[in-house]
Formats: sequence, structure tokens, C-alpha cells
Amino acid sequence: MTIKTVDFVKSSTNLNQCPEAKKPEFAFIGRSNVGKSSLINMLCQRNKLAKTSTRPGKTQLINHFEVNNEWYLVDLPGYGYAKVSKDKRRVFKGMMLNYLEGRSTLVNTFVLIDSRHDPQAVDLDFLRWMGEKGLPFAIVFTKTDKLGKTKVQANIAKYRRTLAKEWEELPPIFFTSATEKTGREDVLDYLAECLNTVADSGM
Ligand code: GTP
Ligand code: MG
Repeated sequence: MTIKTVDFVKSSTNLNQCPEAKKPEFAFIGRSNVGKSSLINMLCQRNKLAKTSTRPGKTQLINHFEVNNEWYLVDLPGYGYAKVSKDKRRVFKGMMLNYLEGRSTLVNTFVLIDSRHDPQAVDLDFLRWMGEKGLPFAIVFTKTDKLGKTKVQANIAKYRRTLAKEWEELPPIFFTSATEKTGREDVLDYLAECLNTVADSGM
């Protein structure tokens, strides 16, 4: 997969405001600060495309980026951020779930998980919700540069075991580091595969 052009299209506060649903798209979701915006920048090889921050809660809208004039990457706000008000959190969550459930052209969602931590309820709950809604997803373990390789492998093995308790089949799993720019080809290859499937099905 070669990324020739990337254009910021728009930021939307809800599903209705999103660009017309005419092209396949891929969403990036996960806890605040997990590295969604950084991963999008890494995939597109553009440092400042999606806004990143050391402080959680940076991305607050649904942001569409158009790639090769053919498909969209969508940067979403994070979930599970304790420091915004309860009301705001509810609004964010509603907007996000509504978008994921209602966006007819959404091909796949990448659920990002920090490779440094043990499985967290907020992520497992979210994956369960995706499963209940029948929404396809892949998992991306982020920030793999922050731990030694052995520790990352151990954490991911633990995650697989946890998921296997409630999932018959595990989703595709990727490992990335936005700072070391690793995992890019794997994610883009998968994305290309998904796009081919969609093209075959005539979307
Ligand atoms: P919100 O928009 O607030 O939900 O956060 P986000 O998930 O978009 O995270 P963002 O990309 O803004 O990154 C959060 C912080 O983590 C920033 O300081 C990034 O530089 C850092 N970060 C992201 N990815 C990586 C990574 O792979 N390795 C390291 N070491 N730091 C990373
Ligand atoms: Mg962000």
C-alpha cells in the first residue's frame, strides 16, 4: 500500500456532520493518550497531520483524513479519560458509539491498546460492545518501544489469553511504535487487504 496523498477533510461533532458516506473508511479508537493520532501520523508519514499531545483528551472530534482520494482514516477521541467531566464523557462516548454503529462505510476499526499494561476493563468492555454490534476490528498494541521485547511479548500473550476466555476467534493483532516507526507495513498491508475485500463486494 502506497500512500500518495493525504488531505484533512473535516472535523465533525457527530455522525450527521461526517463527510458523505461514499468511500471506505478505517477508524482508530482506544483510551485517551494511547497513541491514536500518533499512529495515524506514522502511517501517513506526516508528523503534524493529526494533532497529538502528552495530555490525554487532545482529540475531541471525529476527524476525517482522505488518503489517495480513495478512502478515509478517521481519528476519534479517546475513551476512559477520567479528567473530563462526567457529562462531557457521556457526550463523547455517545458520539463515538453512534458513529461506529451508524457509519455504513466503516470497513474496519483499529482498537489501540497500550502494550505496557495488563488487560484493562475499559478496553475489554469496549471490545465486547464491538462484538455485540458485529463490528469488525483489529487490535493494535502501541508504544512497544517503551518496554523490552520480552516484556511486550509477555503482555501480549497475557492479552491473548484474556481475550480467548470470551472470544472464539481472536482478531488480527498488530504491534506498533510511532516513535520508532515500526509496524507500519503490517497495518497498511492489512488495510489494503480490507480495501480489496470491499472492492470485490462492490462497495
Ligand atoms: P487523545 O487524542 O488524547 O485521545 O490521545 P491519542 O490516543 O491520540 O494519543 P497521541 O497520539 O496524542 O499520543 C499521546 C502521547 O503518547 C504523546 O505524547 C505521544 O508522543 C506519545 N506516543 C504515542 N505513540 C507513541 C509510541 O509509539 N511510543 C512512544 N514512546 N510514545 C508515543
Ligand atoms: Mg488523539
